[in-house]
Amino acid sequence: MAISSRRFCVAPMLDWTDRHERYFLRIMSANAWLYTEMVTVSALIRGDNHRYLQFDSFEHPIALQVGGSDPRDLAICAKMAEDYGYDEVNINVGCPSERVQKGAFGACLMAEPSLIAECVDAMRSAVDIPITVKNRIGIDDQNEDESLRDFIKVVSEAGCETFIVHARKAWLKGLSPKENRDIPPLNYDLVYQIKKEYPELEIIINGGIKSIAACVDHLHYVDGVMLGREVYHNPYLLMQVDSTIYGDKSEVLTRKQVLRQYFPYVEEQIKQGSELKHMSRHLLGLFLGQSGAKAWRRHISENAHKKGVGVELLEEAMAMVGED
Ligand SMILES: Cc1cc2nc3c(=O)[nH]c(=O)nc-3n(C[C@H](O)[C@H](O)[C@H](O)COP(=O)(O)O)c2cc1C
Repeated sequence: MAISSRRFCVAPMLDWTDRHERYFLRIMSANAWLYTEMVTVSALIRGDNHRYLQFDSFEHPIALQVGGSDPRDLAICAKMAEDYGYDEVNINVGCPSERVQKGAFGACLMAEPSLIAECVDAMRSAVDIPITVKNRIGIDDQNEDESLRDFIKVVSEAGCETFIVHARKAWLKGLSPKENRDIPPLNYDLVYQIKKEYPELEIIINGGIKSIAACVDHLHYVDGVMLGREVYHNPYLLMQVDSTIYGDKSEVLTRKQVLRQYFPYVEEQIKQGSELKHMSRHLLGLFLGQSGAKAWRRHISENAHKKGVGVELLEEAMAMVGED
């Protein structure tokens, strides 16, 4: 079996995986498959879609995640994504927030696999890039063995070949989105089982994965892993991905080398009118566990919002950290 290019994915995270974060992560891994924040269909169709869709070609491979449930609108958005050069469009069937439920998309659609099948079908007809789905194993009082199987069966019959499964249910009533990422218990075995039952599908597992060693374990059972919070809080973990997960012998950069490679991008973005704080907030975890990490974070947190600051502030903060 060929190594799946989605063997290691960074999860879509609203407010976190913006283009600045993705550029930063790409310095550490050429292979990791990156997802945008979720963008709603209405923002794309009725909003300033360039703002949501623009990215730097350095970010490839990159997938656009969309939120919606109208097949025709989703097909229009898939076409926009293809025209912008995205490598994949992913439909969000996992987000439990109330705002999302009101828009009738996200995790509540676990109860409507045939609607998702229609969406996949319409999107596949509109574009040549892959259409994938990110879903939960069930919602509320659904029996998760049945809900996940039913969902995968119906949606794969519409031509979806890749499923990213957040291996816990979403409880739509009574839990906040944050609680819904921690409280419903993880059921990795069910996801492994689905891979056994559907060997031809690409199954990516997500939820609570915190180390490269854990990724390697999961990869005995599924095609890929997706990590969210751990990558955000400890981004240097990505430095191991190309060698350990993809078997590529790429150069290992130190944390400070990673940062220096990010500087030209930061300078260019500032020149184009962006502010340092929009990029520096993603860098706080870079020196996690290193001596001086606290001073690094504090110097950035206390100063990055000030007017006119630039890369020199990051250099000052970097000087407070010991060795790489
Ligand atoms: C701040 C934040 C924002 C998120 N936004 C999205 C989103 O836009 N779309 C989505 O499908 N999941 C979203 N998620 C869920 C993650 O993609 C992922 O499924 C979840 O965090 C579990 O993976 P983890 O344990 O590796 O973090 C978000 C998670 C966090 C922490």
